[in-house]
Amino acid sequence: MKTYLVTGGAGFIGSNYIRYILKKHDDIKVVNLDNLTYAGNLENLSGIDESRYVFEKGDIADLPLVQDLFQTYDFDFVVNFAAESHVDRSIEDPEVFLRTNVMGTQALLDTAKNAWQSGKDQDGYPTYRDGVKFLQVSTDEVYGALGREGYFTEETPLAPNSPYSASKAAADMIARAYNKTFKLPLNITRCSNNYGPYQFPEKLIPLMVNNAKTDKELPVYGDGKQVRDWLYVDDHCAAIDLVLWKAKSGEVYNIGGHNEMENIQIVSLILERLDKPETLIKHVRDRQGHDRRYAIDPAKIKRDLGWEPTVMFKEGIGLTIDWYLANAAWMNSVLSGEYQNYYDNMYKDR
Ligand code: NAD
Ligand code: TYD
Repeated sequence: MKTYLVTGGAGFIGSNYIRYILKKHDDIKVVNLDNLTYAGNLENLSGIDESRYVFEKGDIADLPLVQDLFQTYDFDFVVNFAAESHVDRSIEDPEVFLRTNVMGTQALLDTAKNAWQSGKDQDGYPTYRDGVKFLQVSTDEVYGALGREGYFTEETPLAPNSPYSASKAAADMIARAYNKTFKLPLNITRCSNNYGPYQFPEKLIPLMVNNAKTDKELPVYGDGKQVRDWLYVDDHCAAIDLVLWKAKSGEVYNIGGHNEMENIQIVSLILERLDKPETLIKHVRDRQGHDRRYAIDPAKIKRDLGWEPTVMFKEGIGLTIDWYLANAAWMNSVLSGEYQNYYDNMYKDR
């Protein structure tokens, strides 16, 4: 019986992950710590098995709260999804990215270290109770941008370009340091762009689906030839859980499925599926510091743990578009919040 602390579980990937692990394991309990920012939505978890799940509203950077939760629940696993996650927002207002992504991660790491410590070895390093693990959900964006050729491997130097990716790189490095200096049982995963149900519609795919559906312009940044390496969210969830249970502490894993696409190709595909004209596409001013290409080399996770993606893009993008169309009530409730102001500020005069 394992007790998971999943942070950011009301967001896109976190909510999919909670659904995934509750289905996969019978004998687990899940505590979801989320402070419900604009991106957190409890509707993302509707219908889940409440008998093995608890929601705790709170901030990962609130150290006394995090300490209390460790006392109350005696966690075995921490999976840290909680983050400010949108590059465009990090360009407008970087500060909260440092607070949540860096200081929040450090508060979790430090609390886990203290709560899990069982003693000290002869060299003075802490020792830990059996079976505990911290998993830091990082991103391929910590590597910066690629040219036309090549892939990110786990050895690629970190060279983040946006305030978002810089804050994630800092979190990734502090997690590494807790493993090296304190031997905290830990892994780091760096995944490529995810797509699937419950993604907040500030991100490319749900934003374009919603705009196409409502005959609004589709704002493509710059020439639209930037490349992202798309992975269906369930495949990311499976990879994270595999790393958590099976990987050797201290290992870093890239996660991706060799599915590179230009943004403009994705936008055209969405228009085609919704039977809408290409004239809805509007090329707008490019994002500042826009990374040109991301592409993951997933050889290590395949070799060590046997993980491979199971959902091919053609199938996954169809499922995803259909999900957004079928869940108009979810989309409308998300759009009714602060979203409209955000959209107007971000896209007017662009
Ligand atoms: P998201 O923005 O949809 O969700 C983030 C969640 O974290 C929200 O529920 C939000 O309320 C919560 N949160 C934010 N600040 C918090 C705080 N201080 N305390 C507690 N909860 C807080 O993000 P996502 O797309 O689901 O991404 C989840 C994680 O995966 C992030 O760490 C992100 O960097 C990483 N990641 C995302 C992708 C992607 O394509 N979306 C790819 C690789 C890695
Ligand atoms: P996004 O979903 O924000 O993910 P990330 O920046 O983390 O990769 O954006 C994916 C790509 O789509 C990125 O190259 C920026 C581009 N994009 C647009 O062209 N128009 C948009 O309105 C948005 C939100 C993104």
